[in-house]
Amino acid sequence: MKFLELLKPDQLASILTIDDFENEARAFTSHSTYEYIIGGAGADITVRENRASFNRVRLNPRVLVDATHISTKLTIFGREHEFPILLAPAGYHKLVHPEGEAETVKGANQAEATLVAACFANVTIEAMSALTSRPLWFQAYPQTDRGFTKELIDRAVASGCEAVCVTVDVPVNGPRDRELRAGFQLPPGVERANLATLGKLIATASHRPSGRNIYSAVHGPDATWKDVDWLRSIIPVKLLLKGVLHPDDAALALKAGCDGIIVSNHGGRSLDSVPAAMDALPPIVDRLAGEMAILLDGGVRRGIDVFKAIARGATAVLIGRPYLYGLAVGGRDGVARVVEILRTELEMTMGLIGCPNLSDISNRFLLP
Ligand code: FNR
Repeated sequence: MKFLELLKPDQLASILTIDDFENEARAFTSHSTYEYIIGGAGADITVRENRASFNRVRLNPRVLVDATHISTKLTIFGREHEFPILLAPAGYHKLVHPEGEAETVKGANQAEATLVAACFANVTIEAMSALTSRPLWFQAYPQTDRGFTKELIDRAVASGCEAVCVTVDVPVNGPRDRELRAGFQLPPGVERANLATLGKLIATASHRPSGRNIYSAVHGPDATWKDVDWLRSIIPVKLLLKGVLHPDDAALALKAGCDGIIVSNHGGRSLDSVPAAMDALPPIVDRLAGEMAILLDGGVRRGIDVFKAIARGATAVLIGRPYLYGLAVGGRDGVARVVEILRTELEMTMGLIGCPNLSDISNRFLLP
């Protein structure tokens, strides 16, 4: 794979928004990689909805509130975060940068952000942990082979990961039209580093002539709530389920002893036509606020979006595609610049709306 020379920090400083990063990234990636990252499932209805849902929300500002000190700090699971934005798990960073996740970790360090390391990273969890300046979180998929899942999670915990996010929203593949049209395939050298030392992944893939395989080797299709009980019994750190959209599932996660959930539709990449995470959030918050951490991802592109999600009751948000664009365009500096844009926009929003403390953000700052 060929990579263009990355933009330097002074050039990155002139990129003003995440949407501008998305446009820039097109020149720094192959067509098929760009389509793989930007696209979603089916006709991208949910991808569009993730953005539209934020844009529908109107703010309700108050004036003459002292904005001299604006604080975006918060505590999640007993650890202080500088701002409520984490980097979502995404596999295969070597698609966009030759150093892959090693570069992303350095960007996260620069940005003071917590990264959720994907099990399908191109760099091992041990190598990522050795580079990070703050504890990573780890993402796993439930696998049919429990021994395999446990070995992977044990390694993540031994490496210092403070939370494990188990992604539960892709038991089978969804059709990804854009990715398929572009003929995306993992290029040689873009390997699942965490899996290299483990036995072969239980591949349940059944090949169809159409190229649309229903089963993948990513997520055991037989996973059920019994697996969550088992995962809880073997995970000594915080456990979150990623990909919850229904309040009943959120309640089941709590009952199973999870410490949190990530309200997510996988960035619109799993089942098309499901609601935006932002629209799925309110009934979940109504039912479970205060009982567990409720994070959200999908479509966060502005600091205002972060504010809106927190005002609707999210503990924090995660971003996926935005930092991949940053990584493609500017490596670690690009990742840091993306976070800086969102962080600064969030501070501006808090100052302008009359809510300088993150802990005071609530839905009274949203029009009903
Ligand atoms: C993802 N996502 C993802 N999620 C996960 O649990 N494990 C994974 O390996 C991946 N891989 C992945 C690759 C790429 C290229 C993308 C864009 C996304 C989903 C990710 O964690 C997150 O849910 C979404 O990206 C959030 O939506 P936005 O911020 O991209 O709109």
